[in-house]
Amino acid sequence: MLGELDGRVAVVTGAASGIGLAMSEAFLAEGMQVVLSDRDEDSLDAQVERLAGAGAPVSGEVCDVTDPDAVAALADTAWDRHGAVHLLCNNAGVGPAGPMLQTTPTEWRWTFDVNVLGVAHGVTTFAPRMVEAGVGHIVNVASQAGVMTTALLGMYCASKHAVVGLSEALYRELDTTPVGVSCLCPELVRTKIFDVARLRPYWVDVHETTDANQAALGEILDHRGIEPSDVAARVVDAVRTGRFWVFTHDVTMEMAMARFEDLRADRNPSIIG
Ligand SMILES: NC(=O)c1ccc[n+]([C@@H]2O[C@H](COP(=O)([O-])OP(=O)(O)OC[C@H]3O[C@@H](n4cnc5c(N)ncnc54)[C@H](O)[C@@H]3O)[C@@H](O)[C@H]2O)c1
Repeated sequence: MLGELDGRVAVVTGAASGIGLAMSEAFLAEGMQVVLSDRDEDSLDAQVERLAGAGAPVSGEVCDVTDPDAVAALADTAWDRHGAVHLLCNNAGVGPAGPMLQTTPTEWRWTFDVNVLGVAHGVTTFAPRMVEAGVGHIVNVASQAGVMTTALLGMYCASKHAVVGLSEALYRELDTTPVGVSCLCPELVRTKIFDVARLRPYWVDVHETTDANQAALGEILDHRGIEPSDVAARVVDAVRTGRFWVFTHDVTMEMAMARFEDLRADRNPSIIG
């Protein structure tokens, strides 16, 4: 358990926007030094400049989490600069949506490259060094979509179930080490997660209706989403106290339990809105 965060060092992926940026700001408020990293260089530079301009102990590193060599370089840079990394947030993610029958092979590859392999690269790169150093905590960002399933988010649900699965296994494997693990499962948070067109690589093909589907979900998020800073406060608390599950909404537990009730009763999946 990390306990006191003051003076510790955090690395956050996908930190140029949304929840990653809010977690970075929350860690700074706790007295941590933060390495913000993101694939989006312009947004990253703007945020690091803003925070550094206000006197915060931050630096920015461009890193595409789908590239294991880039994640290794991020770890090297962080350790060289600070001599330690106490907290890693595997937060970078993308939120493709729409009917599964309209998804494409390249969309699946991209989604799993970022949402699943990106987390795996962070874990396999940083965790051994944390174990060796005798201190550390890893926050993997999954989603409510990692403990329940819903129509029109099949690819995203599949990737986030994978993050929950690898995080639980990791927690068990690290149980006898001084390295803790948390799994963040937010419901709707007001960010740019459904604005995937801004992040989608050139080689990803999408159905002609995809961008309209994404925009509709983006509007729901704008109206119903909570603030990223509310999520970040829960993460700070979980890291400090060594809690694994980090939920943001009561409905997440209700939906997860409903799913397990179906399982236990050997019932077909309930159709939810
Ligand atoms: N917003 C929500 O409602 C919500 C709900 C549950 C889970 N989440 C998860 O929270 C995490 C953060 O998302 P957000 O909502 O803040 O969205 P966001 O789009 O505002 O931020 C995501 C950040 O990840 C970066 N990113 C994307 N691909 C990357 C890559 N290959 N390498 C490095 N950086 C990359 C983006 O540039 C962006 O800055 C994601 O894992 C997302 O799935 C979000």
